[in-house]
Amino acid sequence: MLGGTERLLWLLLLSLLLPPPSAWGQGGQARPREGTEEAGSARAWLAFQGLRERLRAAGALSRHYWARFSCRVWPQDCGEDEEASARSPAWSLALLGQQYLDILSTWSCSFWDCCDRGDCRIINNFTGLEADLRVRLHGQHLARELVLTAVRGYLEMPRPDKALALSFHGWSGTGKNFVARMLAENLYQDGLRSNCVKMFISTLDFPHLKNVDLYEEKLTDQIRKMQEHCRQTLFILDEAEKLHPGLLEALRPHLERQAPSNQRAESQRTIFLFLR
Ligand SMILES: *[C@@H]1O[C@H](CO)[C@@H](O)[C@H](O)[C@H]1NC(C)=O
Repeated sequence: MLGGTERLLWLLLLSLLLPPPSAWGQGGQARPREGTEEAGSARAWLAFQGLRERLRAAGALSRHYWARFSCRVWPQDCGEDEEASARSPAWSLALLGQQYLDILSTWSCSFWDCCDRGDCRIINNFTGLEADLRVRLHGQHLARELVLTAVRGYLEMPRPDKALALSFHGWSGTGKNFVARMLAENLYQDGLRSNCVKMFISTLDFPHLKNVDLYEEKLTDQIRKMQEHCRQTLFILDEAEKLHPGLLEALRPHLERQAPSNQRAESQRTIFLFLR
């Protein structure tokens, strides 16, 4: 158990001694160099990938883990009982460790694209979106142009005063979901898995009529939370024709023009996709 902790500690320290990530290129996307260095670089790259995974795990360090960690490093300040130390003010003795963690996270963020608000992975690749719509979407010329123009126009607006709502309907089968996915993938590095993208399916997320009040609260709450976290959010509402009017009502404030009194340092962009 503690052996594992020690190993992790070692990895953390080792990682601080490694050459800067620029040696591998930017954003963790670089390939091994060519020529004689290739094999060595490839090995280094694999090692680097493994390290990255461990750092990711370390990024999720819990308070409890920190207490244990500090017990290993500063045993003199540590109680007998690990559980107790996790709860006790011994937490403060992890401050020095916290500094290391900060250094570590600053360093790791230089190539993970992470940031405080978790929305650094917004890519808004309109070239990619245009290409996807052109190549992968068949027989929807009008939709293709409209989607691209609307989304691009909205996202490039310096200070939009309301959300953009797009409603896709009348298309058979997967066409609508397909476009929704293309949008997510070209606007966010992580596509539909992004923390700034949320999909609701009416029959799944809001199945019972009697709970509409609850759903309304849940929906409003989730939108608010995501907007706090991301400056650009995408909400996909599938089976929108089955959405209760009460829930549409909950969305109304976003779809209406916001008074400019609501000044924010950074403008908020929200896209609602209704698939019906
Ligand atoms: C945008 O998407 C295209 C096509 O998928 C891709 O080739 C290009 O590298 C992307 N650009 C960026 C900046 O991600």
